[in-house]
Parts: sequence; structure tokens; C-alpha cells
Amino acid sequence: MKLVNLELARDLLLRGDTVAIPTETVYGLGGWIRSEKGLLRIFSTKERPFFDPLIVHVATVESAKKLASDWTPVHEVLAAACWPGPLTLIAKKDSSVDPLITSGLDSVGLRCPRHELTLKLLSQIEGGVAAPSANKFGKTSPTSAEHVYQEFDDKVAILDGGPAEVGIESTVAGVKKEGSKFVVEIFRPGFFTASMLSGVLEAAGLKTQVRYAQSPVAPGQLQHHYMPRIPLVLVPPDFNWALQRKLIEDKLRHVFKNPVVWVLPASPQLASRELYEKLRQFDQQGFDLILTSKLPEHSSEDWLGIWNRLEKAKTLAL
Ligand code: TXA
Ligand code: MG
Repeated sequence: MKLVNLELARDLLLRGDTVAIPTETVYGLGGWIRSEKGLLRIFSTKERPFFDPLIVHVATVESAKKLASDWTPVHEVLAAACWPGPLTLIAKKDSSVDPLITSGLDSVGLRCPRHELTLKLLSQIEGGVAAPSANKFGKTSPTSAEHVYQEFDDKVAILDGGPAEVGIESTVAGVKKEGSKFVVEIFRPGFFTASMLSGVLEAAGLKTQVRYAQSPVAPGQLQHHYMPRIPLVLVPPDFNWALQRKLIEDKLRHVFKNPVVWVLPASPQLASRELYEKLRQFDQQGFDLILTSKLPEHSSEDWLGIWNRLEKAKTLAL
């Protein structure tokens, strides 16, 4: 494993190289936003299409504001309450932001991660660090240095910051005006739910509607994402392998000898922390099929992020 310390990580980034950086959500594949070489390297290393925009990571709200041209009171309140933390705020971009980061859009995703080591690194890098999750495009996101190594071998230097606490990617939220009112739209569910964000805004005296929405640009919100190497099948809670095995085998045109039934932990925080780790483990432990089901207790709002990922990681739903 090519582990680097903070100083070397900074030097590599400033030289236009990529470095895997820890965050509270998942590890990111970082590149300096002022280096075209670094940005291009993110896309080539990940085999990521250019139409999928990157999130810029910053150490402070002040740095975020410099990259935005329409920082509204809603941005201000959400950033003050949720940063550092797993929330990405979309804002109109400042002209200094490279179109490679935004896929040519006029908006940019900004996030201040809650990770001490990475915050220290970011404070030493002018502008910020663009970082998508440090995995090959469409595959399971890494929540430890070991996962990044499994993904890229020694091709990527890693700043090891321990296992990710949250375990799934940040909530992505945009702000728009409808008439004279602001509306917050959540394009990717995560730790911060709509109720949590509207509670924060209300407490600050900004009565603002917060809703779940399709991303207007739909980048990265592709149908298949986060996929493990072996098939993942979502089954009903009353599923019976002995009776229904043939159905799955017919649909997937494969005989499965060694399936694993995966029961998600009862707490959404625990479930999101171990989600990607489990998917990788099942890949490696010789199972050839993962079966999991949505139980009644998995339907509250704080499970949305987890089901969003499982829906995209699935091969089939019965
Ligand atoms: O937790 C995270 O957000 C992690 C860590 C590394 O910070 N990063 C991450 O990046 O998940 P990535 O590239 O895997 O996902 C970025 C998401 C994509 O769904 C992308 O479409 C969306 O953010 N996004 C970025 N810029 C956007 C924009 N201007 N408008 C709409 N969506 C945007
Ligand atoms: Mg990703």
C-alpha cells in the first residue's frame, strides 16, 4: 500500500497528482482544483465519464463562498449547522471553477468533510480539492484505506485516516427559488434527511420547504452504481430460498450454489457504516449471491440513503 503522510499528500496534490483522502462518509480520490492535470487524472484513474461532475472539498465556509457566485442565506444556515459534515451544497459556480469539475454546468457541489486529518490538509491547499469516491466508476465506494488499495493497488497514494464513520456518501442538496421563496431539493439522500435540514432552517427563522427530487442534470444518479462483483438480489421479507431459488436462477441465468442472506442491522447509522464493507466481504468470502430484504423497520426517513444505494447496487428485485 502506498501510504503517505499529510506533507507528502499536500505536495503530490499541488504537483497535479491524485491522492486518496479520508472523509467521514467514504474515501475520496482527490485532485487539486487548480490543476488540470490532477483533475484529468481523477477521471482517468476512476474510468469516470466526463459528464459526471465532481464535489469540491474545502476546509471552511469562507473557502466555499469563494467558489460560489450565489451563496444564499439558505446555504449560509445549512453550512453553519451541518459543516464540517456529510452535506454537499450545490451553488452557482464562480467563474474560477474549472468546467472539468462541473461537467460544464453552471453550478458546483461544495462540501466541508468532518475529518480532522483531511481538514488539516485542505487548509493547506488553496481553492480546495475535488474528490469523487475513490473507486472505479459504478463500483462500491471505499470506507477504508484497505478498500482503496483493493481498488487501485499501488497506483494511488493513500492518506490513511481510519475507517469512515458514516459509511455512505454525503447528502447532496441544491437550493432554488420558487417565486419569492427558497426551496431545498435533495438530489442524493444521505445522513442528513429532509426533516433534519428543514428543522435546521426553521430554527434559524427560514421557513423553507425541503423535498427529495431528481437531479436536474441527473449526473451520477445513474441507475447502476455502487455494485458489488457478485449479484445482489432484493427479496421480499417472506422469501423462501428452497421454494423461490429457481426464479432467481432463471432470471439471472446462473446456478447459485453459495448464497448469503444478509440481515441489515436495526440501526440506520450502523447499517450505513457497514454497508459497503459487507458488500466487499461477500465478494471476497466465496459467496456467489447476496440476498437481502427491506423489513418494515427499514422504512423510516433515515433509511432512505441506504435504500437508495441498495436499489442502485442491486442486480434484481423480486
Ligand atoms: O460523501 C461524498 O460526497 C463523497 C466524499 C468523497 O466526499 N464524494 C462523492 O462523490 O460521493 P461522487 O463523485 O461519487 O458523487 C458526487 C455526486 C454525484 O451524484 C454528482 O452527480 C453530484 O454529486 N454533483 C456534483 N456536482 C453537482 C452539480 N453541480 N449539480 C448536481 N449534482 C452534482
Ligand atoms: Mg461515487
